[in-house]
Order: sequence, then C-alpha cells, then structure tokens
Amino acid sequence: MSSESLSQQHERLGHAVTRLISEHAAQLDSAPVTASATPADLKQLFDEALPIAGTSGEEILAQFARDVAPHAMQIPSPRYFGQFNPTPLAIGVWADALCSALNQNAGAWHNGPTSAMIETQVLRWLCELIGYGPSAFGTLASGGSEANLIALKCARDGALDRPSGRAPRDICEHGMRAMDADLTVYASEQCHFSVEKSVDILGMGRKSLRKIETDERFHIRTDLLREQVETDRRDGRIPCCIVGIAGATSTGVIDPLPELAAIARENHCWFHVDAAYGGGLAFSEKHKEKLLGIEQADSITFDPHKWMFVPFACGATLVRDGGDVLRRSFDISPEYLSEDRGGADVEYDFFRYGQMGTRRFNALKLWMGFKFMGKRGYAETVERHIQLTEYLVSRLDELPDFERIGEIETAVCCFRYLPEAVRASSPEEQDRVQQALQQRIEKSGKAFFPSTILHGRRALRVNINSFLTERRHVDDLVELLREEGKALLNRLKSN
Ligand SMILES: Cc1ncc(COP(=O)(O)O)c(C=O)c1O
Repeated sequence: MSSESLSQQHERLGHAVTRLISEHAAQLDSAPVTASATPADLKQLFDEALPIAGTSGEEILAQFARDVAPHAMQIPSPRYFGQFNPTPLAIGVWADALCSALNQNAGAWHNGPTSAMIETQVLRWLCELIGYGPSAFGTLASGGSEANLIALKCARDGALDRPSGRAPRDICEHGMRAMDADLTVYASEQCHFSVEKSVDILGMGRKSLRKIETDERFHIRTDLLREQVETDRRDGRIPCCIVGIAGATSTGVIDPLPELAAIARENHCWFHVDAAYGGGLAFSEKHKEKLLGIEQADSITFDPHKWMFVPFACGATLVRDGGDVLRRSFDISPEYLSEDRGGADVEYDFFRYGQMGTRRFNALKLWMGFKFMGKRGYAETVERHIQLTEYLVSRLDELPDFERIGEIETAVCCFRYLPEAVRASSPEEQDRVQQALQQRIEKSGKAFFPSTILHGRRALRVNINSFLTERRHVDDLVELLREEGKALLNRLKSN
C-alpha cells in the first residue's frame, strides 16, 4: 500500500482521472462511435496473470487510457443512435465518484441515512411527475429489467387476495403451490424481454406470458387482449397482470393505457406500465398527455438511466399504493438488521422494498440530475429530441429509397432501405439488405444504430438519446445512409 494518505491519493488520482474524462468528452464528436476490436483482439490486451504485486495508480490509469477507453463503444457520442443509452450528465458522472467515496450502503437506513432520505425524495419526485398521488412510493433498481421484475412480483403476490381474499403472503411463503390454477400475464409482442424473464424467475413459467399481437403502428391489440383473457379464464387460468408499454424498445410507441387500465380493472388484474424509456415524456407539458392513463397503473417502471441522462445503472419501480405493497412482497427482518430504534427508520430500509441487500447510493446521481436539469431542462431536451426525430423523418420522407415504418411518438424512428431493386426482391433478401446496411454503417464508425424485427421483418431503428445531438448530426446520418446505401446497392448489383 502507498505511504500517501487516502486524501493525498484522491487528490493525485482525481486530477489524472479528471483529465481522462475531460479529454474523452472533448473528442466525442470526432471519435469513431463504434469499437472495431474483436473479442480475440481484446482478449490479448487483458489476458494477464493474476496480479501478485500491486501496481501504481498512474500505471493502471495509463493502461485504461491505452487499452480500455479507445476500444469502448462511444455511447456518449452525439452520433450514437442506439438502444435508449444516453450521454451521461457530467454532474451524474461526478456524483458516481462522490457516491463511491462515501460508500453508503443504501440497503438499510442505518448504513446510509442521507442516502435513504435522498432516495425517498427522488422517488417522490418521480411519483409526482408521473401523476401519482401522495401515497405512492417505490424503490430504485438496477435498471428497467429489475424494476419490471419487482413490479411483477407484487402483481404475482397480490393475485390471491384480489378476487379471493386469501392470505396476502401465501405465494411468498409457499410459492406457486399456493395457487390452484396457473397465473397468466399479458403484454404486447413488443414488450421488453425482461417481462418474459421475470415470469420465469417468478416461477410462473415463460409460457404464462401471453404476447398479444400489435396493430399496424405496433400498439397492443386490445380486442385480442380481451379475447385472450376470456379464453384463459374459461380454461381455468387466473389472469394476473396486464403490462402496458410506454415507449416500446423497438418502436418507442405507447400502448393505449386508459383502455388497458380498464381491461385490468374489469378482470381484477394488476396493471403495470413499463415506462422505462417513455416515462421521460412526463417532463414535457407538450408531450405528457401521451402518457394519459399511466396514473391508473398499480406499478410503473421508469429508468432514469434512459431519458434522464443519469449514468448507468439507475432504474425505478413506482407503486401507486405505496411502500406497503412492496414490503408485503419483499420485507424480511434479518437478526443483524432488526434492532429496534423506535420504528421510524424501518420505513427507510430499502432492502425491505426489493431484492437487493447491499445497494449503491444511486439516488445521489439522480438527485443531482434532477437539480441540475430541473423539470424545465428535461422538458426542453425531451422536446428537442422528438423534434430532431421528426426532422429525421422529414429528411427520410424526401428520399424515395427509404420507407418509414409506423409513426413517431417518442424519439424513435424505424425505417427500411428499399430502393427499387431491393423492393423487387424476396422478403428474406430485403431483410438481409437492412442488416447489411446497418453493419456497413456500424463498421464505418461514423454513427451507430441497431436493427430490429417488426412484424417479422427486419427494420432499421434510430433513437435520439444524447443531449449533444444536433441537427447537423441528423443531416450527417442521412448522408451516411445515402452513401452507404448506394455503395451497398452497387456491391449487390456487381455480385
Ligand atoms: C421498454 C423497456 N423496458 C425495460 C427495459 C430494460 O431496461 P434495462 O436495460 O435498464 O434493464 C428496456 C431496455 O431497453 C426497455 O426498452
């Protein structure tokens, strides 16, 4: 160990890391967005023997600068148009450092009093934004996947008392044996894969998830949902939960939430809204009406590490009827965390509200993000991203070789490259062309966006999720699409 004091080490390393971070930020606009190294290339860089002797901080940081940063995916780039992954706010990046320095254990009040209080506060802000009343509460989670799992556990555990009035903790105590019929969960075929994983983890089985078809704009078909619920009920199953999506992963669209709320109510189902991405619309007076109905949800997933530019990882589950609902599903009192201090602190023990024990003080970066941006700052950014996406749409609509898919409801645009020669080819060939174009652009390093599958067909998908992205970046993207599309077409013709 160094003979320097801890404070001196922070001073020295802090300066060096500050330089690395600011240099990284300075080249974000010009550096390649994508990493070209293969797993074999990177294995060579990191395949070292177990370190026996310690290494100086300077040497470690030099290796970071040489081997780690240059091969990173440049998610913070204004030319990264990927999967709801944002440019992180500077205040959030430094909040992470402060969080690590304090190293609060946000699991129990006693191990992190300010962390518990700040988490409580940011959850209240999120609940207020979304239109929940004062009794709502929630918990931060590692991301949308965990947030969905937490919500679905509440849905599962509440299934017994809703129509039958049986003991509230029966499923917690006895598992699915407490049920005399299978539970079913409903979501559109566009739902995030974490919903399917969740029903599996919760012992209901992946087949218990009914993936309902979507309409031509990729919203859940409520007529088919109603039919499926009826069929399940007739077959002796218990419809347990309806999941609506606000900002679907592939298309960014929002399911008809008021209608889903009504179907859930009529069928004594829990209503969960996965607003991991689309929750950000709540900041904007102009766009928040798209979320109408979300306030009727029993639970909501809202990821600050998507449209709030909080560095990974930070998700949230919000519950309309408050912390008691979460505690009924998750509370436990281990001997070493159950000293009686008069009771008031227990409600700030976040290990009682979810799966995690030791928890990071993630509320800090969210709290600082809220304060730095303010509701207005977030609203302006969300509105600008939607405008930029509409601008992209207007540019694509001018190009006969590109065909747009669906409508813009958030900052996601899906489209296909279909010049005449490709349009005349088979669906499989058209799919291959989309993939080839996506890969050419990824390889160029000039931008990144993924492809996805919509109604069985491959499509290109662009999401604007960086506060650094400007019109000129969208223009460059359109130019890149044209150039690479043309080059691809020439290659196909010459084959
Ligand atoms: C709609 C939706 N829900 C949930 C998730 C899962 O979030 P995370 O990746 O933070 O676990 C995503 C991720 O993109 C998503 O798009």
